[in-house]
This record gives sequence, C-alpha cells and structure tokens, in this order.
Amino acid sequence: MSQAGLRGVAAGQTAICTCGAGGRALHYRGYSIESLAAGATFEEVAWLLTRGELPSAAELESYRARLRGMRGLPAKLREALERIPAEAHPMDVIRTGASMLGALEPEGDFSRQTDSADRLLAALPGVIGYWSAFASSGKRVETETDDDSLAGHALRMTTGAAPTAERLRAMDVSLILYAEHEFNASTFVARVVAATLSDFHSAIVSAIGALRGPLHGGANEAAMALIGKFADAEAARAGVLEMLKRKEKIMGFGHAVYTVRDPRSDIIKEQARILSAGHPRGELLEVSEAVEAVMRAEKNLFPNLDFYSASSYHFMGVPTPLFTPIFAVSRTTGWAAHIFEQRADNKLIRPGAEYIGPEEREFVPLEKRG
Ligand code: COA
Repeated sequence: MSQAGLRGVAAGQTAICTCGAGGRALHYRGYSIESLAAGATFEEVAWLLTRGELPSAAELESYRARLRGMRGLPAKLREALERIPAEAHPMDVIRTGASMLGALEPEGDFSRQTDSADRLLAALPGVIGYWSAFASSGKRVETETDDDSLAGHALRMTTGAAPTAERLRAMDVSLILYAEHEFNASTFVARVVAATLSDFHSAIVSAIGALRGPLHGGANEAAMALIGKFADAEAARAGVLEMLKRKEKIMGFGHAVYTVRDPRSDIIKEQARILSAGHPRGELLEVSEAVEAVMRAEKNLFPNLDFYSASSYHFMGVPTPLFTPIFAVSRTTGWAAHIFEQRADNKLIRPGAEYIGPEEREFVPLEKRG
C-alpha cells in the first residue's frame, strides 16, 4: 500500500535536522531552534548546517568576510537579469539567477561544493535586489554592499534602505528559522537531483521550483495577501469564517509534520509584535491574531512559520513578492547541507509506485481503432 504524500515514511537518514518530535520540536544538528534563534546569528547557523559544527569566533569572522566578498554579480548575470520582464515573479528571477550563476561559475568537481554553496548564498540577495531595482526604475544598483551581515545585506537588497537595528534582528531571526527543515518538499527535491550525481546548481534550481508553491514556501506571500485585505480584527474574523464555510484553505496554517504546534511560529510572532509598534499598518498584528483565534476555534489548526513571517516581512518594509525569495536565500544553507550529505553516502533515489491502471491488454493498431 502506498502512503499518500509519503506522510510518515522515512525516506532516508539525516544527521542535519530533527523535525516534529513530540509534534512540536525542531533541532538543527542537535541544537533546539529556540536556543539558536535566541543566541546565534544566521551566519553561525549557516556554518553549523554546511560544516557540521558551530564555528569558533575566528571561523565565524572569516566566514562572514568570505560571504561579504562573494556578493558581486558577474556582468553576464546582470545582463540576464535585465532581460527578465518587470512583470515576472521574483521567484522566476531567483531561479534564473541561480541557474545562470551555475552556467557562469560551474561547480565542476564536487570538491568545490562548499565554494558553490557559499557563493550562491552570498549572491542570491543581490540577484533579487539588482533585478527589483532595474525592473521598477531602470536603476543598476551596486550589490557589493558593505553590510556586515547577510541579514543586513538582504534587507538593503529587498527594501532599498539601510536597516534599523530592530529590522536587522528580525531578519536575522527569520533567516535562522527558515534555514533548514529536514525532508520537506524542496529539500527532498534537492536530494533526489543530487542523488543522480547532477551538479550543485541543478539541485538548488530544482529546489527553488518546489519551494515556490503556496503549499510550501509560497505560503508566506499568500498569508500576506490574506491579512492585507482585512481592515481590522473584526473583518478578519468574519472573512476567515466565510472562507472556511466555502472550504477554502487558509495559507500559513497547519503542517504536514507538526501536530501540536510549529515551534518557529511563536519566535517569529514575537518579532512581528516588536516591529508592529509604531508601524502605520500595526493593526496587521491584531488582524493576524484574529485569524489565528478563528483557526484554532474552528479547525484546531495552529499557525506555521509562514503566517507571522508575512506580517514581520511587511513591517520590515519588504515588498510581498520578495517574501518567498528571502526564504529561498536562507534555505540555500539547508539545501546545501542535504546535497553534501546525500553525496557523501549516495544511492540513486528511485521509489516504486503502486499501480492502479488497467490490466495488461492487447495493442490495437491505429487503423483499427475506429
Ligand atoms: N486551512 C484550512 N484547512 C486546512 C488547512 C488550512 N491551512 N490545513 C489543513 N486543513 C484541513 C484540510 O482541509 C483537511 O480537512 P479535511 O480532512 O476536512 O479534508 C485536513 O485539514 C487535513 O489537511 P491536509 O492538507 O490533507 O493535511 P496535510 O498534512 O497534507 O497538510 C499542509 C499540510 C501544510 C499542506 C496544509 O496544512 C496546508 O495546505 N496548509 C496551508 C499551506 C501552508 O501554510 N503551507 C506552508 C507549510 S509550512
């Protein structure tokens, strides 16, 4: 018997992440997500995922400098980005950018996989920022910023402004929360591609394609579209009840693995609360809480990471279509870790299928088919 959506099936082994223990826990290489979000920076987490252990102070300093030095985009990549229509979705852009970088700077030998991972992580915020500015105003922005952290660089590339301390902290936390999530759809895709012994960029581009759907990473953008249309909490309550009556799905709720709660939700909700104070659309927090209350009462469903990421990114000044690309930037670290792990003990991934089609039958030549 096949299992719908492979729910509950262990499709392989990993030492990178445990997700869903007790219905609610998440650990990266043994560290709880709560401890990492409270005590680490995104670069420490990126190093932990891609190298296996937390960095020493010296390792962290040189890793940050290395990523800062890899932000520049080759001229041919900038030309390609300029040719993407202004109406394109930024997920098309980041997918194309990752692919073009793979063509211009191919991984070649797998011994260079860590270089490819660092380069993509450092370059992708610039891919989004360069295209966004060019598509909206014809401006060619400099992607080699001197922002110290990837969070600061990502904020500058997506908002066009220097980040405040509050936004910087919120973006850093968000990147930590989005970095890794075991055998989720996009990561599994990356592992399937890596298992054919294909190149690093092909695995990442495939993963970006899987991430984009609203049942996966695209949920943060869809959640923003939902909360953005309600003027206040009362309108949100009434609107969501109506949607549930029509059997519509509310994006940003429920989870395929967690059964009790998504441990990342409370952490990002706290960032949304901090950022909402004094924001002209601060009421989006009460709107979100009203949606959360209805979903608990009516469906016993909890918010996942994507739900309060939507208001958080909005309060940070990030345009809604750039929400999922930021997720992709962060998840590049988790994808990379899984590609490395897959390659280290590889076996082609090729599951079977339960056949439900017709029994064997006789072939009828075309001229006799009526
Ligand atoms: N809104 C409304 N109902 C939901 C729901 C949601 N967000 N998520 C699940 N449900 C309901 C389904 O309609 C279904 O009800 P039914 O049994 O009456 O048909 C039931 O809960 C089971 O849903 P299903 O989609 O089969 O469960 P799953 O374990 O496969 O779902 C998700 C996991 C994430 C795909 C699902 O919760 C979902 O689509 N959520 C919205 C998208 C999203 O936020 N994705 C990001 C995930 S991090």
